[in-house]
Amino acid sequence: MRGPLGFEQTTQPPPLANPDNSDIKRSRNYAMQPPVIPHKIEGYQLDKNANRCMMCHARTRTQESQAPMISVTHFMDRDGNFLAEVSPRRYFCMQCHVPQAGLNPLVGNTFTDVDSMLKKTDGKQETPAARKK
Ligand code: HEC
Ligand code: HEC
Repeated sequence: MRGPLGFEQTTQPPPLANPDNSDIKRSRNYAMQPPVIPHKIEGYQLDKNANRCMMCHARTRTQESQAPMISVTHFMDRDGNFLAEVSPRRYFCMQCHVPQAGLNPLVGNTFTDVDSMLKKTDGKQETPAARKK
């Protein structure tokens, strides 16, 4: 993946790709997937002093920004209690949400959407009851 260079040599990193800025939401591959970011985030401060993302995605900012609000799960602590503000474990948005660019994946994968899998079974979905027989 790093090219035909010896392991003791440092490779030239590829130029940064131009990220998607279309503002078009992409469908999620499964229900619990963190949605990917459909806009540029270049220069947005995201550290212990400031969270630029929350300037648009916080509950109180969405009317002005027209951004989707962080969902209720973002207010939950690990014991399932709802906090007044974004939970510390959801503070660093980019742990889970990432911008997109039109690049070729370095590693292939065979992920199949659950809907496509259900369609493949031709409506003959295996139910727990059928499996027992
Ligand atoms: C200037 C306001 C603004 C800022 C700052 C901002 N966003 Fe957004 N974001 C939006 C808007 C508006 C949308 C709706 C789609 C669009 O217009 O791009 C959006 C969409 C998204 C979505 C897609 C949600 C979905 O349902 O598909 C994600 C994820 C997201 N933003 C994450 C972030 C993260 C992470 C940051 C900080 C690094 C950030 N945003 C900073 C305004 C903002
Ligand atoms: C630990 C992973 C994680 C972190 C950190 C995180 N998110 Fe999310 N986010 C998710 C997941 C998973 C979903 C989809 C399921 C859900 O809503 O919980 C989501 C959903 C969203 C959505 C879509 C909400 C909707 O109702 O359509 C937005 C917007 C968003 N996150 C913004 C943010 C912002 C802004 C931050 C930082 C303040 C952040 N997230 C931090 C995992 C994360």
